[in-house]
This record gives sequence, C-alpha cells and structure tokens, in this order.
Amino acid sequence: MTTVAFKTLDQLQPAGKKVLLRADLNVPVKGGQITDATRLLRLLPTIQELAQKGARVIVVSHFDRPKGQRVPEMSLAPIADALGDALGRPVTFADDCIGPVAQKAVDAMQDGDVVVLENTRFHPGEEANDPELAKSLASLADFYVNDAFSAAHRAHASTEGVARHLPSFAGRLMETELNALNIALENPERPVGAIIGGAKISTKLDLIGNLLEKVQVLIIGGAMANTFLAAQGVKVGRSLQEGEMHDTARAILAKAREKGCEVVLPVDAVTATEFKANVPTQVVAIDAIPDDAMILDVGPQTVRNLCAKIATLKTLVWNGPLGAFEIPPFDAGTNAVAQEVGRLTQEGRLKSIAGGGDTVSALRHAGVTKEISYISTAGGAFLEWLEGKTLPGIMALESVFERALPI
Ligand code: 3PG
Ligand code: MG
Repeated sequence: MTTVAFKTLDQLQPAGKKVLLRADLNVPVKGGQITDATRLLRLLPTIQELAQKGARVIVVSHFDRPKGQRVPEMSLAPIADALGDALGRPVTFADDCIGPVAQKAVDAMQDGDVVVLENTRFHPGEEANDPELAKSLASLADFYVNDAFSAAHRAHASTEGVARHLPSFAGRLMETELNALNIALENPERPVGAIIGGAKISTKLDLIGNLLEKVQVLIIGGAMANTFLAAQGVKVGRSLQEGEMHDTARAILAKAREKGCEVVLPVDAVTATEFKANVPTQVVAIDAIPDDAMILDVGPQTVRNLCAKIATLKTLVWNGPLGAFEIPPFDAGTNAVAQEVGRLTQEGRLKSIAGGGDTVSALRHAGVTKEISYISTAGGAFLEWLEGKTLPGIMALESVFERALPI
C-alpha cells in the first residue's frame, strides 16, 4: 500500500477533551467467555495514555456481524466489563452508540473516564458508511483516534466516515501495527521471505501477486502447495487441491521466475487416508504420494529445507499454516518451522512478522508467540495489506486534514 502520513498521540493534547476512540473489541467469544483477549490487551496502552492525560475516552467498536439489527447476543456490554477488568478502572457502558443515550453517557463523563458505546453495527449506517451516522458519532467528541487496524479494511462510518469530521489520529496499537508492516514489506532488511499457507490459491491470488514483487523467497505450504505441485504434474492422490487453478499456478511460477523470486514447495509430505486425530500416517517423497492418500502436513525433509532457507533471510512475513495443524500429528511441520523462526528471531538474526487468524492460532499452538518479532491483531486487514491494497481506515487518517468538514 501507499505510505501514509498520519498523526499519532504524540501530536494530540487531549486533556479535558472528548476523544472518540475506534477500537476493535471484536474478540472471539464462546459460551459467553472471551477465548482470546489479545485485542483487548493490545488496546490498553492507548486507553491508559488518553485517560492519564485527562481525556474523556469514548470507545466505539463493532462486534460480530449483526447486520444493522439489534442482536442482544452481540451486545458489547460484557466486553465492556472485560475491558474494565483489564484496565483496572471503571468503564461505563451506554446502550447505543449515537443519539440521546450516547449523549447522556458522554455528558456525565469526567476527565479520565472511559465509556464504551454499544455495537456500531446495530445501525445499518455503520457498514453503509452513512454520512449521517458518521456525523452523529463525530458530534460526541472533539477528536477521533483510530486504534482498530484490524478493522481498517472496512470503509464503515466508525472507521472511515467519522474521520472526515474530526481531527484524527492513530492510536498506539494502530501505530505499532503500521510500523511493523512497514518493517516487513515497505522498508525491510533483505533478503525478505514470506510463508504463505492455507487451503486455497483462489483466495490468495492478489496476495501472492503482490508478494512476488516484494520478496526474494516465497515459501508455499498448506493445501495451496498441493495445487502448485499438481499443476506441475505431481500426483497428489486425494489431497485437497484446486484443479481449476492449475493454469493460474503455472502462471504464478513463471512470473516468480521472471521476477527472481524463489518459490519453495514441499519435497516430502506426511500423508494419511483419513483426516482424523492420530490416524496412521506415512512420510513420503512428494513424487510418491499414494493414490488413496491425502497430504496433511509437510514432511521432515521439507522442514529441514525450510529452516535452512529461513536462516538465510533477514525478514520473514508469515500468513497461513503449513499443514492441517488443528489436528495432531499434522501440526508437526508448522510447529517445527515456527520454533525455528522463534529461535532465529530471538538470536537477533531475523525479523518475523505474522498475522491472519489461523496463523496466530498456529503460532500460539506452537508456543512461540512471544518469540516472534510482531504478531498482528488483524485477520482480514493483514491479508488486504499483504495484497498491497489501500486500507480505507488508514487512508482516512491521512487525508482528514484536507477533507475536514464542519459538523
Ligand atoms: C476482524 O475480526 O477481522 C475484524 O474485527 C473485522 O471484522 P469483520 O470481518 O466482521 O468486518
Ligand atoms: Mg473477520
């Protein structure tokens, strides 16, 4: 994406002012429990800084996909409680993000207070980026701080529209994410490599196309690798692969050659005839996959190759697991490579940047999240950024000063 100049909290004097903080409180919840509080925890520095500087912090966020309806199970009320616990300071909650309910809550605030407003997606205007909703949100505050990098790929009222009406700033988490992405692909130490895994080429075409221009080494794993192998005449048995993508896969490989980007594919595989925990498995060379078998992980020789290749890199971007890591023993390849990435990073030999939903769970499963240089809180936004797309939430932070309209 284009480089964006944005203001940070360093340029904001928020004492006594009302700050509308766009957070991403869209944390995973199962049975009423937050299963991963990372997004809440990563947001704390921004809230703490604003509150300590005497701002009145008005937090807005979406949660899940209620599609413009009030869906009680998608209320932010329990998340606001969890945020208060994490912050160690009281957080009040208002039952609507605009209108008299929101205004009353804001009017009652003192300097340093934090209020969370109800799910912005309860209003259809949020996803429609309705200017009226954006104006109503903006009318609550003096400044806008966007700390929701993980929602920056959405041009919604609370991520994009509102920035047209208020002086706008990146929060600390947004700033950290943008700096990490800059280190990864815009101004990286070379050689740069990328690990791209996951099931389908068809969903990652733009991403691969952009990476070919930017990285010297492209490691392909997951079921996506099967498509590349099959496109080159390798028999992959009953493995998941996309037959209709063979031409595309060959074109990608040709483009990589032309750009001088080395594509690294598996040379062996762990196979099974069923995708179940602890089924009998076989390690086979990639040109000897049995007809009735499925490739479910990279094999040990591939792991050695990848570790050796990664040791030659200075920067690594990781999106997507190498195998079907959710079910053991098909996590072994991803675990081993993740541990090596963690080790090289800790030794100061590699900068490692990872993101995307599955990737983060795979790295957590491998026990290396603390060893990686940077793990993004973003799923879709991280992918769109890797695709070289312009993220509307970030563009809005840049252009607001020319476009600012009176409210
Ligand atoms: C995410 O979880 O990726 C962000 O919160 C965006 O959510 P969305 O995909 O529902 O827009
Ligand atoms: Mg999502």
